[in-house]
Amino acid sequence: MLNIALPKGRLGDKVYKLFSACGYDCSAMERDDRRLVLRDEDGRVQYLLVKPSDVPIYVEHGAADVGVVGKDVLLEGGNDVYELMDLGFGVCHMCVAAPVGFREDLGAPLRVATKYPAIARRHYAGKSREIEVIKLNGSIELAPILGLSDVIVDIVETGSTLRQNHLEIIETILPISARLIANKAAMKFKSGEINPLITALRGCMQEEEKA
Ligand code: PRP
Repeated sequence: MLNIALPKGRLGDKVYKLFSACGYDCSAMERDDRRLVLRDEDGRVQYLLVKPSDVPIYVEHGAADVGVVGKDVLLEGGNDVYELMDLGFGVCHMCVAAPVGFREDLGAPLRVATKYPAIARRHYAGKSREIEVIKLNGSIELAPILGLSDVIVDIVETGSTLRQNHLEIIETILPISARLIANKAAMKFKSGEINPLITALRGCMQEEEKA
């Protein structure tokens, strides 16, 4: 049986649609219940519903053979997994944003609020800019409004959270999208189950591109 870790929440709905469209029955997941382990009808696949940031942890440790996760989570976690393919959805950008009209004081460390301290540190290390990281777990946009930070490093999808909180992008760090990842040992020992999944996902994505 193939164990697949799927993210709950925003990415989840898109993942279920793609998997269902390519013959991996996920319909059980669209039911509004609290089960976290679901099997498809013929017992070929077991789906584990996990918090998005935990997907690479389940996969790295072999609790799941493959998983779907945003590139943001992969870059932040740095887990030892194979990144197999870009699934082309969940597209957004990792950005630096600040209050509209913000002027940076280059004489002081930049205070950066973020859910992504590793990504923020790497980005500013590359520019030799000293920063102070303020690690938050959500509603990051509040930090500069309240003076807790100067800027934020966060994902921007539609941009409406920034707009509605009077913030603007001052730098785009990198593009983000959902990725299929695999456990390294599973790639050897379960290739007979993982390769057909990759082929099915590729086929589906090509069909979508044509449509
Ligand atoms: C993410 C991100 C932004 C928002 C961006 O937060 O941290 O706040 O989405 O999306 P937008 O550009 O379409 O407005 P999420 O919704 O995951 O919630 P959180 O604040 O609890 O992290």
